[in-house]
Amino acid sequence: MKFQIESGYLAYETTGNGIPLLFIHGYPLSRKIWEAQAQELQDIAGVISVDLRGHGESYPFIGAYPMELLAEDCYRLLKKVDIKLPVVVCGLSMGGYIAFALYRMHPELFKGIILTSTRAAADSPEGKANRDAGVKNVNEKGVAFIVDGMLPKIVSPKTSQNNPLLVNKIRGIMMETSVNGVIGALQGMRDRPDSTSQLSQIKCPALVVHGADDQLIPVSEAEKMKQIIPDSRLVVIPGAGHLVNMEQPEKYNQAIRDFINQLVNS
Ligand code: MLT
Repeated sequence: MKFQIESGYLAYETTGNGIPLLFIHGYPLSRKIWEAQAQELQDIAGVISVDLRGHGESYPFIGAYPMELLAEDCYRLLKKVDIKLPVVVCGLSMGGYIAFALYRMHPELFKGIILTSTRAAADSPEGKANRDAGVKNVNEKGVAFIVDGMLPKIVSPKTSQNNPLLVNKIRGIMMETSVNGVIGALQGMRDRPDSTSQLSQIKCPALVVHGADDQLIPVSEAEKMKQIIPDSRLVVIPGAGHLVNMEQPEKYNQAIRDFINQLVNS
């Protein structure tokens, strides 16, 4: 399904019954990364997954995408789909940065928060310079150049070696990101605020999930978040990297299922 927002369209999908569960993907990905979650969790959750502007089937959206803007898109989507608030918001990596922005703007929306393969800190000066280099590269060399540079790091080395079909599928999803999408997201992530001071203010229960072999964001970032968020638990999944939900879907889904069961029974 699609709905119009400003000058473009956002694509989204809903499935299942139960506690509303919004999935926000990372960069440069799309709602397709949540296929196994949408299928396997639909008995306990009303799953909503969205293609962020410039990603997947959402287009065209030229310009920078501040995390607050992407969060507001999610908010508008939640208002559009017919669900009973509050929701559980699950963000992966950039999706986590967006979940922090959404929490800053609309904390009342949150029944729970799931922070997957993400970090609270802002970019370092070196990280910001890499974002600028990425913008230059995508303009000059195209999306494939960015994708092929990132692909070996977005999954665990074990997944790269043992599961070429999955790696190929992930490459296909990444390649569906537009040049506008890559630029908008890179600029938005470069300028995002540090969310660390917000962690102690999170009032809803939080699940922090991380792949043990994440090469893009170290597990120590997840441990830091778990230490500061008052009502939080951490699940580190072996045999998985940054795309833990695709690399180890059964273990990942079980962690979400346990978290949701606790939320609905508390
Ligand atoms: C992501 O997966 O969303 C990105 O790797 C996050 C980032 O580049 O900071």
